[in-house]
Amino acid sequence: MKVAQINNTDYRYKTSFKGIIRTVWRKTPSPNGVHLIDTIKHKNNSWMFRPNVRECIRQYNAFSKLFPGTEKVNVYDCACSLGYGVYGFLLWLLSGHEKHPERFFPIIAKDYDEDIIKAAREGLLPLNEDEIWNICDVVRKDDVIKKEDLDEFFHVDYNNSENMLIGTKCYGYMAKPTKILTDKVQFSVADIREDYVNIEPHRSLVWATNFWPYMGKEDRYKLAQNLYNQFAKGSAIKISDDFDNNRICLQDSKSTAELLLDTGFHPADGIKNIFVK
Ligand SMILES: C[S@@+](CC[C@H](N)C(=O)[O-])C[C@H]1O[C@@H](n2cnc3c(N)ncnc32)[C@H](O)[C@@H]1O
Repeated sequence: MKVAQINNTDYRYKTSFKGIIRTVWRKTPSPNGVHLIDTIKHKNNSWMFRPNVRECIRQYNAFSKLFPGTEKVNVYDCACSLGYGVYGFLLWLLSGHEKHPERFFPIIAKDYDEDIIKAAREGLLPLNEDEIWNICDVVRKDDVIKKEDLDEFFHVDYNNSENMLIGTKCYGYMAKPTKILTDKVQFSVADIREDYVNIEPHRSLVWATNFWPYMGKEDRYKLAQNLYNQFAKGSAIKISDDFDNNRICLQDSKSTAELLLDTGFHPADGIKNIFVK
């Protein structure tokens, strides 16, 4: 699968695992002004039910309890890549686990990378075998996990597999989300560093996962503060463990969890990586 070139000559990219999932590099002048070195601007890598399906289900249950009742909940994914996070949550909502799934619709999914949003709107998700079985597990109608249960949500071309993984062999398929899913998500381009002002303060749930280290220390601090100020009491933010709290990626500054706590958020009762104002 091809991704459109980034036109700006300051950037270059290489495709990686899952084909469309890219690493975008920014050329940076060296201190002596002569050579150009490359730094990672961002990666679009993502997958369904990250970090794992059990943890995701625990979190989805928690969202339901954080916002009890039937009133509308405003859900945003502010660095959505191809929309794996959004689709994972929708699959759970639409499979009988939540009493009033419609209160979470539509989900507003944004990313500042125009190419990835274009691809998200076209709607072709690379899925590996594990992701496919995890989806079947979440959407299953009885005790048996069957591939047919997935058909309502994705058209998968099983005849066209790709060997996608570096290292151990793993086969992947292209999956087209059906209208049941795509009707409930709105993709658009935005940089959360400016776009936080468009978050509805009340009853909002903001997914902000696996992108904080790309922003740099100053922007991370500013964004945490701006989100806190934008939120009304009770709105919540979800981050991730694997990248957002990784001290090596954060170059030894505070983890995103610590940053949110310093800003005034408090941890949601018993649920890792969810913080509430
Ligand atoms: C590693 S992916 C993570 C995708 C998804 N949130 C997840 O957890 O799997 C990082 C994404 O963040 C996006 N991103 C980075 N900085 C951003 C910003 N300031 N505003 C919006 N999107 C951003 C990138 O374009 C990329 O698609």
